[in-house]
Amino acid sequence: MKTQILPAQQDNTAAIAAEIIKNNGLVAIPTETVYGLGANGLNEAAVAKIFAAKGRPQDNPLILHVADASDIEKFCHSIPQSAYQLAEAFWPGPLTMVLPARDTVPKCTTAGLPTVAVRCPDNAVTRQIIRLAGVPIAAPSANLSGKPSTTTAQHVLHDHDGRIDAIVDGGPCRVGVESTIVDLTEERPRLLRPGGITPEQLISVLGDLVIDKAVVGQINPNEVVKAPGMKYRHYAPQSEIVIVTGSREKAAAYIRKHITQQDRVLCFEEELELYKGCNPLSYGKESDASTLSAGLFAALRTLDDPAISKIYARCPEGGGVAYAVQNRLKKAAAFHIINGEEEG
Ligand code: TXA
Ligand code: MG
Repeated sequence: MKTQILPAQQDNTAAIAAEIIKNNGLVAIPTETVYGLGANGLNEAAVAKIFAAKGRPQDNPLILHVADASDIEKFCHSIPQSAYQLAEAFWPGPLTMVLPARDTVPKCTTAGLPTVAVRCPDNAVTRQIIRLAGVPIAAPSANLSGKPSTTTAQHVLHDHDGRIDAIVDGGPCRVGVESTIVDLTEERPRLLRPGGITPEQLISVLGDLVIDKAVVGQINPNEVVKAPGMKYRHYAPQSEIVIVTGSREKAAAYIRKHITQQDRVLCFEEELELYKGCNPLSYGKESDASTLSAGLFAALRTLDDPAISKIYARCPEGGGVAYAVQNRLKKAAAFHIINGEEEG
């Protein structure tokens, strides 16, 4: 199959993409977080194609993308007031809510769970495609399973050329890490995945938030977790990643002492000087975490090279969007973290 590239600004793009969705084909869609691999979320056969194209485990459910907040009533029941408050505050935007699913949502979309994840993305052409198709679009991140997420149309083409019908090219994604996921099906709201909507922002609306253990630590593959996707090794290039913590100088001293010819350094722009001669790659500014979230996955893709043996990475600290960057980088590193202050 020939994969068509449809520029987002082209007049007939939304109509062409919607037609493919209606015919149960696969279209990669731009969103403010990452590119999604979209299909008709109400059709079993269309959704099955997503799992096949990505090589995604069947027990990992998909997010349903809607064009308007009011659409969630078609796919969810027992919707708490907090869901409407969050939609009012943050939609369209990088927030996904887990709610009880109606029978209209097929089992392959929810991976058999009684709940469904819903999100209204902040991208005009994508919402237009959903409206014209007349169905919600189920879409995981468009990367091959396990690989760093796709933040440009070129990344999607790299992973899926000839395997999907079309890619809508909306340019590089603004946020760069996947949406925040909050589960509203229990007594207390629970953060399942940090993202562009920060824990602080959620608490400002909800007044309360439990942080799921899958957000902060390594999960045993046999453990039952709330967001099935969070237990898999993720976002990772082929080579091992080691996060080195500590002050700029101490971390650089540790890395410079241990680095070999086959290794690379993934650091902040402010640190490039400290790694002269080590071929460092910066993914953004430590002083502006939104540049780190926007640059992380593209940098991990650049470093996805069999010739590289180990990647020494610097990770931002603190809350806000930096919290989501930490989560992705720690998962990519399988929580392998060295303290540059203590190690010689
Ligand atoms: O920003 C995003 O969310 C992107 C764009 C394309 O919208 N999508 C995305 O989808 O990141 P994906 O499939 O890569 O990640 C979805 C995560 C997975 O960890 C999955 O297990 C979890 O959401 N999830 C989906 N449905 C769920 C449910 N009913 N309950 C708990 N977790 C769910
Ligand atoms: Mg993903």
